[in-house]
Amino acid sequence: MKRSTKIAAGAFATLGLAVAVAFAHPGGMGPGRMMQGMQHGPMAGMHAGDAAFQADMQLVHEMLAGHDKIKRTVENRPDGIRTVTQSEDPQVAQAIKAHVGSMEQRLKDGRIFNLFSPTLPVLFDNKDKIRTTVEMTPKGAIVTQTSSDVRVVAALQAHAEEVDELARDGMAAMMRGMRASMMGGAR
Ligand code: HEM
Repeated sequence: MKRSTKIAAGAFATLGLAVAVAFAHPGGMGPGRMMQGMQHGPMAGMHAGDAAFQADMQLVHEMLAGHDKIKRTVENRPDGIRTVTQSEDPQVAQAIKAHVGSMEQRLKDGRIFNLFSPTLPVLFDNKDKIRTTVEMTPKGAIVTQTSSDVRVVAALQAHAEEVDELARDGMAAMMRGMRASMMGGAR
């Protein structure tokens, strides 16, 4: 594991992740500028004090650590997506199910959970235009999301691709996303 990846992995259970990335890349952005970015970037509106926050971070950690045990397919449809995300590993499968359940509840309640994604704010801003169906399977979840708004459909498909990258590359994808976000690539 590369040194920067190790630093981020160690800090993952807390919001220290973002700080770890900033210190691992001192040439990029200092903590001051990072905090400023967080007030306007995708982490804006994110509440670390949210009771479910730590539990949600723990699930993300488990999925990233077990990313090579995740099988995922995404079908883009004219009105949205159908995704199948599963694992033969019972603990990873359980994390996927718990994550999907928790995220769908957050979407309904408008309680965003985001670290770097430029598409999640679009989805949460338009939550009333999204129809979601979740089917839990023994090994994971099948999620169908549709919308009659083409911009929302595009955001659903872009987010599904972000999840693909996280499942494929694990922590490396997380680091890429964090870096892109800090450089101003995200909303
Ligand atoms: C390996 C890592 C991850 C996996 C396997 C995963 C899996 C999923 C799945 C299966 C969905 C349902 C939508 C879809 O299938 O495209 C989803 C939705 C969601 N995920 Fe993740 N996720 C991961 C990482 C993350 C991270 C790092 C965050 C934010 C910090 C996050 C936040 C969300 C949110 C907010 C939703 C709800 C979006 C919506 O319903 O429109 N996920 N995730």
